Amino acid sequence: MTDVTLKEVSKKFGSFQVCHNIDLDIKAGEFITLLGSSGCGKTTTLNMVAGLEDSTSGDILIGGRRVNDLSPVERDVAMVFQNYALYPHMTVAQNIGFTLKMRGVASAIVREKVQKLAASLELGHVLERFPAQLSGGQQQRVAIGRALVREPRIFLFDEPFSNLDASLRVKMRTEVKELHVQQSVTSIFVTHDQEEAMSISDRIAVMYRGGVEQFGSPEEIYAHPASRYVASFIGSPQIELLDGILEMSNGATFLRAGQRALPLHIDQGNFKSGRAVEFGVRPEHVRMGDTGIEGRVQMLQPIGPATHVTIDTAAGTFIASVPGFLRVKPGDNVKVEIQASDLHVFDKETGLRL
Ligand SMILES: Nc1ncnc2c1ncn2[C@@H]1O[C@H](COP(=O)(O)OP(=O)(O)OP(=O)(O)O)[C@@H](O)[C@H]1O
Ligand SMILES: [Mg+2]
Repeated sequence: MTDVTLKEVSKKFGSFQVCHNIDLDIKAGEFITLLGSSGCGKTTTLNMVAGLEDSTSGDILIGGRRVNDLSPVERDVAMVFQNYALYPHMTVAQNIGFTLKMRGVASAIVREKVQKLAASLELGHVLERFPAQLSGGQQQRVAIGRALVREPRIFLFDEPFSNLDASLRVKMRTEVKELHVQQSVTSIFVTHDQEEAMSISDRIAVMYRGGVEQFGSPEEIYAHPASRYVASFIGSPQIELLDGILEMSNGATFLRAGQRALPLHIDQGNFKSGRAVEFGVRPEHVRMGDTGIEGRVQMLQPIGPATHVTIDTAAGTFIASVPGFLRVKPGDNVKVEIQASDLHVFDKETGLRL
């Protein structure tokens, strides 16, 4: 098992800074995800670990050894690319088994490994076909198989499920996670799908504009987002962020939101009367009850296990996620309860958590 460390890794293309000061300490056997929207530098970061792209500055260590000057082969990583390319003149079985064959592994063993992997990737029935005779999703699974069949020190996955339909994506997610549980190969996985990242990762690095906003467990990132960006990127439905002002009254701290003051427990060091903030509450923490802030139902969105209810109040508009289907209708008067401990508060200017 191998650890991977990135120390202040930066990358410029010409004068364009794509990644800046990326620090990641990935433990041996850990499965981490780089999560972020398109263009934030995920592929570039992965390529620098793989050795396909030079970093402009900083150190990359694999198993404690600086690898900046090593070739991809010397780094012993297996990568599934965002734009995978299969060998067009080889069958599925040959594509998957190619690297093993090149290493001189006996053909009976190659065949056995390929068959086992193909079965779990639902490719067993197309092993003798050529890539041009496969659907996009099948081609992508061949590319995944080609990486998985090796036993590298590190797996790098760049949006490996992007061509798969929704149900297969979830299935492949389970497959990759299971494989990781069995083999514990250190893995770096790239996705822009927050649910995929949450479900598969030991830790998630949320990237924004070439930097890492937060690196933590799914729970840390969800329950204690370090910034406004992380709070709104993670979670579905998205957390609504509202404007507020910190206030002190009779020695107690409050959050002034619209025409309401909400009780707020906040670190004394962060409290400054009149400080402009943005705040939000996760939809499952917005409770509809008999007490609380009066509001009016604006919209209902049932999704099966829960209904998302948009509620206008004097403190702003909240979205509540309530289990099951609801009897309320748009226009109904309801009350909204929010616990002080469920408020996420961010400095208006810096966007950082208070
Ligand atoms: N070879 C290059 N030359 C110049 N700019 C590049 C090059 N490769 C990437 N970029 C730019 O660097 C930024 C980050 O690109 P990158 O491919 O790492 O993003 P990403 O997070 O993987 O996005 P996506 O989710 O769309 O794949 C983008 O603005 C991109 O246009
Ligand atoms: Mg990319």
